[in-house]
Amino acid sequence: MKVEEIFQAYKECIMPTYNKVPFIFVKGKGSWLWDIQGKAYLDFFPGWGVGGLGHCHPKVMQGVRDQIGKLIFVPNNYYHPFQAKLAKELINLSFPGKVFFANSGAEANEAAIKLARKFGAGRYEIITFENAFHGRTMAALAATGQKKYQAGFEPIPEGFKQVKFNDLSAVKQAISGKTVAIMLELVQGEGGVNVADKDFISGLRKICNEQNLLLIIDEVQTGFGRTGKMFAYQNYGIIPDIMTLAKALAGGLPMGAMIAKKELSDILAPGMHASTFGGGPVVCRAALGALNAMQKEKILHNCQNMGKYLFEKLTFLKNSCPVVKEIRGIGLMYGLELNVEGKQIVQEAASRGLLINCTHDNVLRLMPALNVAKKEIDKAISILKGVLKAAYSA
Ligand SMILES: Cc1ncc(COP(=O)(O)O)c(C=O)c1O
Repeated sequence: MKVEEIFQAYKECIMPTYNKVPFIFVKGKGSWLWDIQGKAYLDFFPGWGVGGLGHCHPKVMQGVRDQIGKLIFVPNNYYHPFQAKLAKELINLSFPGKVFFANSGAEANEAAIKLARKFGAGRYEIITFENAFHGRTMAALAATGQKKYQAGFEPIPEGFKQVKFNDLSAVKQAISGKTVAIMLELVQGEGGVNVADKDFISGLRKICNEQNLLLIIDEVQTGFGRTGKMFAYQNYGIIPDIMTLAKALAGGLPMGAMIAKKELSDILAPGMHASTFGGGPVVCRAALGALNAMQKEKILHNCQNMGKYLFEKLTFLKNSCPVVKEIRGIGLMYGLELNVEGKQIVQEAASRGLLINCTHDNVLRLMPALNVAKKEIDKAISILKGVLKAAYSA
């Protein structure tokens, strides 16, 4: 298909649920993407964190290639070796318990919500937070709680209460006899890159222990090294009761997972929950390849080092550029809050070959691959600086 035919087919045949940027990508490697005309782009926002290892990591590709030649689907009423192996690895990397495999972050969160309600046996209310994002399916949308995502889709399922993020007394006030769980992201990605305070999280853990509530941590965006640890909760000295995962899990293929601690792990008995494609052999091989790469290639170490380097560079940028109000983040997950809207900046950066994101209207978001190189950070900063300079004579 020619370029214009592709755009036309999208217009005629694909629901317009995304604000789209008119680039057609055909090839990717590491932190780089190539469009149909052969132009290269430095990708500092690979798929909302899906590209933890960048595009087309060789170990992920190899796992997929091997599996595709043998068997691509095994229904979940049978067994296959790679689901077993992956679950074991995930448990070894996190906490003792069991895994439920799904296909997306929202689906992993739906599973967590159902498990919490079943555990609650009558208690069903889940406390979530302002500016949270947990996905677009109905219960995940209810947990998300943001009016801009909910408008028009009422009635929203009941049983969720939003309170202020990082505010322990607001949580305490919201708890009632119906409360069963507290659910949150440790870094609110879509909500503007807001990092949870350490005291807040240890306070939540304590409240949950005292009141028999479940602490559900949504690591869909933060999981697999994004914050410099394998999982973000490992920065906080706590262990969640339930953790949800997706995005970087299978190195670019669709996969979600919920991990529940031992005491909860047999509550969802046969017939209570399911996902036809969840944990299929191809995605499991991709995820095993991704985990193998993370360990062999010292990805966490690189994330910590490059995270520091990027933060330094962003700090220089902020100091020379009054339009940048604040830098927030951890690991390789940064938000630059601007005192203007960020949409134009993202567009201009893209036209100069740098892909970034803007969330919450005025927060530029940078989440490069965790194996990003210093010279790629230098290039990204130089493009971003040029864009900000041109727009606001920094
Ligand atoms: C923290 C968080 N949870 C859940 C989701 C939903 O994931 P998915 O789009 O795979 O359903 C997202 C997506 O951006 C997310 O960032």
